Amino acid sequence: MTTATPRRFLAHLYQEGPHNPFPGIKALERRLGHALPHQYGSNEGLDMPHAVLGGELGHALADLSRSYADADAWQLRHQLAERLGVAYETLLVDAGADSLLALVMRATICAGERVITSAGTYPTLAYFARGLGAEVIEVPYTEAHASDDAPHSAQLAPDLAALAAAASQHAARVVYLANPDNPSGHLHSDEDVRALRDALPADCSLLLDEAYHDFRPDAAQADNAPMAHTFRLRTFSKAYGLAGLRLGFMIAEREDLALLTKVRIHYAVSAPALAAGELLLEHPEEAATHVAAVIQCRDQLAEHLRSLGADVLPSATNFLCVRLKSAERAAQVQQQLMAQGVLITRSPHPALGHILRISTLEDSLVPGRLARLEQAIVEENRA
Ligand SMILES: Cc1ncc(COP(=O)(O)O)c(C=O)c1O
Repeated sequence: MTTATPRRFLAHLYQEGPHNPFPGIKALERRLGHALPHQYGSNEGLDMPHAVLGGELGHALADLSRSYADADAWQLRHQLAERLGVAYETLLVDAGADSLLALVMRATICAGERVITSAGTYPTLAYFARGLGAEVIEVPYTEAHASDDAPHSAQLAPDLAALAAAASQHAARVVYLANPDNPSGHLHSDEDVRALRDALPADCSLLLDEAYHDFRPDAAQADNAPMAHTFRLRTFSKAYGLAGLRLGFMIAEREDLALLTKVRIHYAVSAPALAAGELLLEHPEEAATHVAAVIQCRDQLAEHLRSLGADVLPSATNFLCVRLKSAERAAQVQQQLMAQGVLITRSPHPALGHILRISTLEDSLVPGRLARLEQAIVEENRA
């Protein structure tokens, strides 16, 4: 880093160290070129019999549970590198996309500095930023409604131009964009995201949260490459069904990953999570089948609700959103469904209180399951 290069990370991270005190046994074995079968050096509970865990959850899980995982996630990163066509060194594995959001905040933001996000988008980044004493500046979504002339123009989307303008105006450290977005489901093209990056100041990082990447209609052709000054986040929580195990990864430039690694929690990823991710990447057909089924279910539910007159937003995710006319009615529908044991989400953000988000599981298609919502849609259209 030369003094002329704009600074995006905390200043001290550009200095020598800190160095991870626990690179781990797997890294040591790789360095030595041989296994270390007699491990008396890391104070794990390696003699724990795990009869209970093994009996209840399976012996493979019990065995994996005894040891710290490979802090480098060597195998998973190699599998991802091959699958995504990116270099091993541009990948960082952590305990879910949320952990990566926290990591970026920890490495880039000081109290009083500014972060830009969309008003009502996935709130975790703002929550972490506020926790560090940073200022969160929210930019409204752009919104469009379908009309008789343009029946497919319904839209709720992060406003890329406004995000870029706010970043410059407020000298922000980080701009957050979920793409596809939660809760709107909106997908901006790779080209538009690159244009956003180009429009940001050089000392402002783009935090590009791609948690729903696998559900994009163009996922197979979409951009995976590390982008300058950008942290691209992905997760195993959605398409791969591993939310409970906590596993996600980042694609970024190697220099950025070297700085992030200085403040990373080195054993945050558990050995069972890593093993599960490796196994699922060895058998990618299972996640692919799951994604296809979810998309089919989503489109079926969207079509059904639209046939009742619903304003369903286009979605490139594993959920869909129904836009009602008022937040009060949306709150009422949500409460009534909850009383029947059906949980759907209404954004707590005042800007999006009229939006109801439904994860499109097969169970959501059971006739009558969303009857209260269907009734509200019909009533709204009658009024
Ligand atoms: C946009 C977005 N980012 C991140 C996450 C969290 O992902 P993970 O489970 O990998 O922490 C979610 C989960 O709902 C999400 O919607």
